[in-house]
Amino acid sequence: MLRTVRRPRALRGSLTPPGNKSISHRAAIFNGIADGSAIVENFLPSADCLATLRCMRRLGVGWRRPDELTLEVEGAGKQGLKEPEAALDCANSGTTMRLLVGVLAAQPFLSILTGDGSLRSRPMARVIDPLEQMGARIWSRREGRAPLALQGTSLRGIRYGMPVASAQVKSAIILAGLYAEGETVVEEPGPTRDHTERMLQEMGADIRFGEGPVVRVKQLRGELKPLSLRVPGDISAAAPWLVLAVAHPDAELRLADVGVNPTRTGIIDILISMGAQIEIENERRWGGEPVADIVVRSGSLCGTIVEGHLVPRSIDELPLVALAVCLAEGETVIREAQELRVKESDRVRTTADGLRRLGARVDEMPDGLIVKGPQRLSGSRVYSRGDHRQAMMLAVAGCLADGETTIHKAESVAVSYPWFWNHLQVISVD
Ligand code: S3P
Repeated sequence: MLRTVRRPRALRGSLTPPGNKSISHRAAIFNGIADGSAIVENFLPSADCLATLRCMRRLGVGWRRPDELTLEVEGAGKQGLKEPEAALDCANSGTTMRLLVGVLAAQPFLSILTGDGSLRSRPMARVIDPLEQMGARIWSRREGRAPLALQGTSLRGIRYGMPVASAQVKSAIILAGLYAEGETVVEEPGPTRDHTERMLQEMGADIRFGEGPVVRVKQLRGELKPLSLRVPGDISAAAPWLVLAVAHPDAELRLADVGVNPTRTGIIDILISMGAQIEIENERRWGGEPVADIVVRSGSLCGTIVEGHLVPRSIDELPLVALAVCLAEGETVIREAQELRVKESDRVRTTADGLRRLGARVDEMPDGLIVKGPQRLSGSRVYSRGDHRQAMMLAVAGCLADGETTIHKAESVAVSYPWFWNHLQVISVD
């Protein structure tokens, strides 16, 4: 599908971004192995989360969606999953595959996990290695690529220093740790999203986190308690509007009910360090997660440096940061972000290519990008390459460029934000 955008005269109004993708996956999986039923409100019905739901159904978990944004899960209990009769298709979703590997490594049956071409090319050794140290039996294609086959078995706790900052890997080990004898300790090289830890704690797991880069989880004694919750809005879905508003000459937007978990707010810190006008209002808690409204206005931007802990705290937003800094005064360096190369696409390459097609000069490094601004973008044909975050970044870029921009494979936004195009229309004033 093609979509054509041009710069709106102004941006006004308020939006409620869709539910957090990471929390929606976790609510479906963790409630699926809990003992009892739970209601999840503001569940994200995106392609990725629906893939998780289909996998849970194949594993014997009952669920229904009485309306588009509500999910009711009938947990099977920690030993209640059933051997799936066919391969589990995780589609485009790394979170589905990596979190399920952690659970399935401990179930007494055979599971096979597969996905689309992008997911089958992404690295899985990073979950296989620690789980094998715990005793798991996992087979993969060459170089740890999916499909994966798991013969569940009994596991033992380990102490594991993660070589890469990845919440999916951390979560896989923690989930396996719920089933493993003794204690499992995970050390992170940087602060990745902690939605797993917060949710499992609410569900009664014996888990300790938040004091330094270490998570400790003990084998579950009883059952996990089901957790009914309202999923906060996804800061990754708010991010396109944040960047569009700060870089547009006439914008004022209110983004309501956005999750502002500090492991996720790197994009706000980066934009503020660039001089953006962003206010956080009405902070409150939804279950274990902080939520707020965000007010964002046009401003003048300067370049910045993105490195260190800011990288895992903004990992999915870095393509949008690269766009913002094209329009900012001065030089920006984004470094230590080599993880971008193993996302749904090689996002160092696809971000640089996409911005260059709009006339930007962007230097690619092995672990990031260098951009000198300000630059003028001019409309063109651009390619999302089937990567939802690229499609959204290119749409925002097209709204900041001169002339018209046509985005190929624009439908890929549905992986995380099914009503993205509609929301763009809602805030655009022509
Ligand atoms: C996610 C973790 C991140 C992120 C992905 C969602 C999660 O991946 O990029 O979109 O829900 O745990 P990594 O664990 O590979 O960093």
